Amino acid sequence: MEKKRRIVVTSALPYANGDIHIGHLVEYVQTDFWTRFQKMRGHDCVYVCADDTHGTPVMIRAQKEGKTPEAVIEAAHAAHSRDFAEFEIGFDNYYTTNSPENKAFSEAIFAAMEKSGSVTVRSAPQLYCEKCGMFLPDRYVKGACPKCGAPGQYGDNCDKCGATYAAEELGDPRCTVCGSAPALRDAEHLYFELEPSRGLLLKWLPEHTSSGIANKLMEWFGEPLRAWCISRSAPYFGFEIPGHPGKFFYVWVDAPIGYLASLKNWCGKHDEDFDAWWQNPDAERYHFIGKDIVRFHCLLWPAMLETAGMKLPDGVFVHGFLTVNGEKMSKTKGTFINARTYLDHLPAWALRYYYACKLGPGIEDLDLNLDDFVQRVNADLVGKITNLASRGAQMLNKHLDGRLCKMDAEGAALAAAAAARADAIAAVYEARRFSQVPAEVARIADAANQYFDSKEPWKTVKDPARREETRAVLTSILNVFRKIAIYLKPVLPSYAEKAAALFGEKDWTWDDAAKTVEEGAIGKYEYLASRITQEQVAAMVAAAAEKPADSGEVAHESRASKNKAERRAAENAQAADVPPVKPEIRFVDFEKPDLRVAEVVACEEVPKSQKLLKFTLDCGPLGTRTVFSGIRAAYPDPAALCGKQVLFVANLPPRKMSVGVSEGMILFAGTPGKDGGVLSPSSPAAPGTPAL
Ligand code: 2FM
Ligand code: ZN
Repeated sequence: MEKKRRIVVTSALPYANGDIHIGHLVEYVQTDFWTRFQKMRGHDCVYVCADDTHGTPVMIRAQKEGKTPEAVIEAAHAAHSRDFAEFEIGFDNYYTTNSPENKAFSEAIFAAMEKSGSVTVRSAPQLYCEKCGMFLPDRYVKGACPKCGAPGQYGDNCDKCGATYAAEELGDPRCTVCGSAPALRDAEHLYFELEPSRGLLLKWLPEHTSSGIANKLMEWFGEPLRAWCISRSAPYFGFEIPGHPGKFFYVWVDAPIGYLASLKNWCGKHDEDFDAWWQNPDAERYHFIGKDIVRFHCLLWPAMLETAGMKLPDGVFVHGFLTVNGEKMSKTKGTFINARTYLDHLPAWALRYYYACKLGPGIEDLDLNLDDFVQRVNADLVGKITNLASRGAQMLNKHLDGRLCKMDAEGAALAAAAAARADAIAAVYEARRFSQVPAEVARIADAANQYFDSKEPWKTVKDPARREETRAVLTSILNVFRKIAIYLKPVLPSYAEKAAALFGEKDWTWDDAAKTVEEGAIGKYEYLASRITQEQVAAMVAAAAEKPADSGEVAHESRASKNKAERRAAENAQAADVPPVKPEIRFVDFEKPDLRVAEVVACEEVPKSQKLLKFTLDCGPLGTRTVFSGIRAAYPDPAALCGKQVLFVANLPPRKMSVGVSEGMILFAGTPGKDGGVLSPSSPAAPGTPAL
């Protein structure tokens, strides 16, 4: 018998400024599968979440709609709660970050961080509007995108080309409130120093995240961990930082603290001791998150908790994004589908089932292929599984008084084989290999359907002499179906509830799969699931495409959209996020330089030049190239470079200089004009070898 566990589970908190969409649901649905499974196993498991309410987008929306931020977040809370309830997301508590509990925890954790000496004050230039008398948050400033030049872009990212940048980099910036041109002014900000947590993180990460995530994060440990800016200047919808008037906690500070606040609120409602859940070394805690917010949850969050003397998470489960028909969700194609639009056309259970078919524990993206969606739901869940119950129960009720008997030998063997899968299926749930659940139950259903077809109960039931034989067949079929429905309960909770009612049962636990139901009477067959159609899908896509782009908008903050991931990447970058940093490039940009290994054949000073050295490079199959480099100060004895291997950019166009034509560029590192060294491959490579 497994020891009873105490488990706190969270999903990332959705932003209050936007609607829930089917991309978000990838996360809530899988967290829900997992927590429902834990509860069925008899563990004490609490699933908490909340709306993430603070920050500028809510303020801007409130301004646009002529409401208070509080009214905006209240409406969002109601809408989100409705959507989640209809998708059967079984939160134990769905709270808000704009709560007294969250304020108190944010202040207490910050006080502990300050006390530990890990909060520092630094100054950085920020756009300031003289006319409005305020520092401008990113979304209070518009100008030309520094990358593509598109006008009218916000201060964080460009809607036209997707670039992310700092507001200070915009061309011709304008305050969105008064239209005047802001100036740069130094603003003081509070920073959380991460470097003191290096040792903790190096130990914690590999033990509590997947190896892929840990390895990725490890790349940042090659240099000092940069401090994280945790304050924002007024105006800001959030919590003012005690002792720092006019400064507010950056939304990403109080968002994860919202997990504690929601749990605390739940404890209050259920007379539970908070520390017995949060601080108890025997209580486990897991965060489900998308791959775009790893840095916050795997570096900053554990460091904050540790500094505050709190227990660290036991695991962070990271998932990928949703694509629809193989592409990122698109408003114009009608594949950016809000939860509500989906529910207007299709049943929630169908999407839950399909996501189960596609979900695994890794960070690969999940594709909702709309044709496959219809096909799988109909063929497997309706055709193979639900038909067992509808045909079996309806036949039994219509012709055999709804009474079960003992199973026949063949049927009992089928039921026993189905029961024998309980541990394997439990292991699959525990490891979040959800896609194996539908595969497992489909195998059980296949065997049951074969048995059903071979026995032809629809014929035998009409023969008075074979009534009892038929009853035994239907009893077997219904027993197998019952076990399948128990195994599917975490995925299809209301379906399972109705299935349980057919057998006069309720609140199935995992152990119920071991039992058989024989001799008693079944209830009336209630509709469980019926076929979905291409027409329903087409109508949903048409409705999603019709929705004006800005209704409840918020592609900016949609967890599943790749655009958001790109934007979020700016925050995930190690650089602190208030001072301007170089705009990020995409991987495709990084791939553009053709970096190659070359061997220095000759290197000499260039007459009349103080700076230049002339290199002759053997570039293997690319031939011999001449390159002029302004590196003379670092090499008083240029001939010493002969025979060295260097890295150079082979695909720059030849450049005509006063001293000759330069046919590439050699990579050096050091202080320009002073010292510096060639970058060489760490082990000898043939000239011409690509360096990437
Ligand atoms: O990325 C997002 O949608 C954030 N609102 C998630 C916050 S998760 C946690 F830290 F609260
Ligand atoms: Zn202004």
